[in-house]
Amino acid sequence: MKIVFAIVSMSLLLGAGVASNVSMQDQGNMQEKSGEQASAAQMRGSDNGYKARFTEDGQLMRPIGWRKWVYIGTPLTPHDMNDGKAAFPEFHNVYIDPESFATFERTGEFPEGTQIAKELVLVGSKAAVSGKGYFMGDFNGLEIALKDSTRFKDEPGGWVYFSFGHKAEYEMTAKVMPTASCNACHQASADTDFVFTQYYPVLREAMPPKMKKKMEGDKQSKTKMDDNAMKAAMGAMGEKMDASSDKEENYQERVFKWLAAKKYSDFVSDSTVHPSSAGPAVHGDVKTFYNKKLDESMKQGNETHPVGSLAVKELYKDDALIGWALAVKSKEDDGKGNGWWWYENLSTTDTKNPVAAGLGHSTCVGCHAPGKDFVRTLKLN
Ligand code: HEC
Ligand code: HEC
Repeated sequence: MKIVFAIVSMSLLLGAGVASNVSMQDQGNMQEKSGEQASAAQMRGSDNGYKARFTEDGQLMRPIGWRKWVYIGTPLTPHDMNDGKAAFPEFHNVYIDPESFATFERTGEFPEGTQIAKELVLVGSKAAVSGKGYFMGDFNGLEIALKDSTRFKDEPGGWVYFSFGHKAEYEMTAKVMPTASCNACHQASADTDFVFTQYYPVLREAMPPKMKKKMEGDKQSKTKMDDNAMKAAMGAMGEKMDASSDKEENYQERVFKWLAAKKYSDFVSDSTVHPSSAGPAVHGDVKTFYNKKLDESMKQGNETHPVGSLAVKELYKDDALIGWALAVKSKEDDGKGNGWWWYENLSTTDTKNPVAAGLGHSTCVGCHAPGKDFVRTLKLN
């Protein structure tokens, strides 16, 4: 520790760069002003201070000056739209290190070493002189996504995720998060190489036009339900295709009516309504039903389920049925949940405003990716 400190002090005096393995103590001193001010030594360093630094035991050190990186967007998941407990509180200010941004502009790819910071900010006020809304309050957390397929060669895509805590005072170092906790959802649902470019207008504008076109094309093929898929899905429901189900919107209505008529009631099911293991904010109290095809496939322990597999989940609040979630395997899957048609409606009367409806729907697949071929309930109870 002492020796490293001496070297760093010397290099400061000489105006030279800072070594990659900075001692913890020095990181601490330099980070007094963390986000706002990159230390002079860092700025002068040969790597501009943008390179990820690790402690000897492999923990990521909190980067310096991330608030001066390139700002790419602010997704907002307010507590008051998530039963008071959004998984990532509330504004997410997202920044990418400037060197990787420059490469992305040129190539549309995130180079090795890319760091993306997501800083969480609480809603401070819901009214201002400009009107009602959500206005930023205090900083409340920091997460980092890092692409490093040398150090983390077993992680899908080489992407690793770190949390420096959800509170005002961030930790100095962070352990890599387990793949299932973070990486899996990013792999399944993010549009561009594990990064949610669909929510970052700055990145979408920055990518080369060719990449942008491709991304839009991918998205269209992702959500379209073709005739064969629709036929398979209707078949799983024990219904026939007809003119009223030939378009995906009409098909949605038929699914709703089918649910409302409880045509799934002879499926194999949980014996009771029980709290969802996803936590109250997502599915509340639930009762899950499998059609025969899915039930048999689950019992056989198959890694993938046949086309025509169907699961329905009744959603309850205070013992009253408030809606349904449904997943039906409509075509062979590509490992990203695009073979499943996902549907959720938090009303038992309004057919028009489902929470989600579509093949590979991004609201659903990420969280279902750790399941067995996207099915989370391994055993009905
Ligand atoms: C259920 C899906 C899901 C899980 C699990 C998840 N994320 Fe994300 N993550 C998102 C979405 C969606 C965004 C973009 C929108 C937003 O910020 O809400 C995002 C964005 C990010 C970003 C900004 C860069 C990017 O890739 O877009 C970071 C950093 C990040 N998440 C870190 C984490 C960490 C750390 C974990 C694990 C503790 C984690 N995420 C788990 C869905 C998820
Ligand atoms: C935060 C994670 C999460 C998200 C997001 C999520 N689910 Fe689930 N889902 C679960 C879990 C966990 C289960 C297992 C049963 C339980 O405990 O609720 C489940 C069960 C289900 C089931 C019963 C079959 C199975 O896989 O066990 C269906 C159908 C379903 N979800 C549909 C959906 C749909 C449609 C969406 C998107 C609108 C969605 N889910 C989004 C976590 C999630």
